[in-house]
Amino acid sequence: MHPLARFFNYLKRIEFSLAIQRKHLSEREQVEWYPVWMYELMETDENRNRPYRDTIREAVAGKVVLELGTGRKALWAVCCARAGARKVYAVEANKRAYLESRAYLKVRNIDNVHLICGFSDKITLPERCEVLVHDLIGNIASSEGMIPFIEDAKRRLLTPDAAHIPQRCVTCAVLAEDPTLTLAERSVSYVLRGFQRLDRLPFVRVFGFRQQGALSAPHVFEDFTFRQEQPLQRSVRLDMEIKRDGVLRGVFFFLQIYFNATRVLSTWASTSCWEKPFVRFKQPVRVKKGDHVELCIQSNLSGTPSYSLQLAHQANGSAKRIGEYAWSGD
Ligand SMILES: C[S@@+](CC[C@H](N)C(=O)[O-])C[C@H]1O[C@@H](n2cnc3c(N)ncnc32)[C@H](O)[C@@H]1O
Repeated sequence: MHPLARFFNYLKRIEFSLAIQRKHLSEREQVEWYPVWMYELMETDENRNRPYRDTIREAVAGKVVLELGTGRKALWAVCCARAGARKVYAVEANKRAYLESRAYLKVRNIDNVHLICGFSDKITLPERCEVLVHDLIGNIASSEGMIPFIEDAKRRLLTPDAAHIPQRCVTCAVLAEDPTLTLAERSVSYVLRGFQRLDRLPFVRVFGFRQQGALSAPHVFEDFTFRQEQPLQRSVRLDMEIKRDGVLRGVFFFLQIYFNATRVLSTWASTSCWEKPFVRFKQPVRVKKGDHVELCIQSNLSGTPSYSLQLAHQANGSAKRIGEYAWSGD
């Protein structure tokens, strides 16, 4: 295993929190970016993998399956083949990962997985598939471009009643103080950020956002039931109540991934390979229990996903703009 995958898995095991940084990447840049250690982190993330495996085993026997983004070990394609799928089409846009998956399938003599190199919206298939499996889920669910790819697959590659694994994905927003980190966590995070100070950054990626930093309950920002048609332009306005006195520093996001009504992975309640994006404002704002904060987010998911976020603090009968941030990609 790559030393970085070992290192991050170790930190995960000891519940070591991190606040790191990397630039936003478009969905096509992200595909090129995926390094081996990141694939290994996903391949060894049991909190993520268990619900995928259990759902696949219940759903695919005798079915024709499509996997979007199969990675470098054709992970879910192989799981589907072993669970009795009649045929699996597995698509991968990252050339290195595709070649590794091809070698992996060859060595194991798995012959009912048909591997295709390219972006899913550029390929054709000889038949329509009855099940779609994917993990194209970004740190904000839509941020790796999954919605247009899934809508395209529904139009051209899937049967009208195809099953989706997962079924639904929700992104929640929470108002928060800066993440609570120990001295060791702050020091390691600082090194991993390339020696950039946290208080200079408008967007941070947090692993292990501790509950005590939250100032509001989670509010749903995006909610995708994949069978349903999804609009590509969205605008949400959330009225969020402050639960305790504190210093509001920003808003962070986490996912709820539904495999069925009861099999749900929350990326806040359990550790996983997903980061919690944290949008930080320039100025901290003192807030009191019972105050209201209005969070408005506009998203455009038609090309590279883009988001524009504004917050206003409502106290003493007036509303004051307290922060804004706009970005595109993950
Ligand atoms: C989060 S990784 C998941 C890899 C593997 N399926 C797993 O679960 O461990 C997403 C993968 O999808 C690929 N990908 C993203 N969008 C794609 C698309 N539209 N068509 C094909 N591959 C895509 C990326 O290159 C990456 O390998």
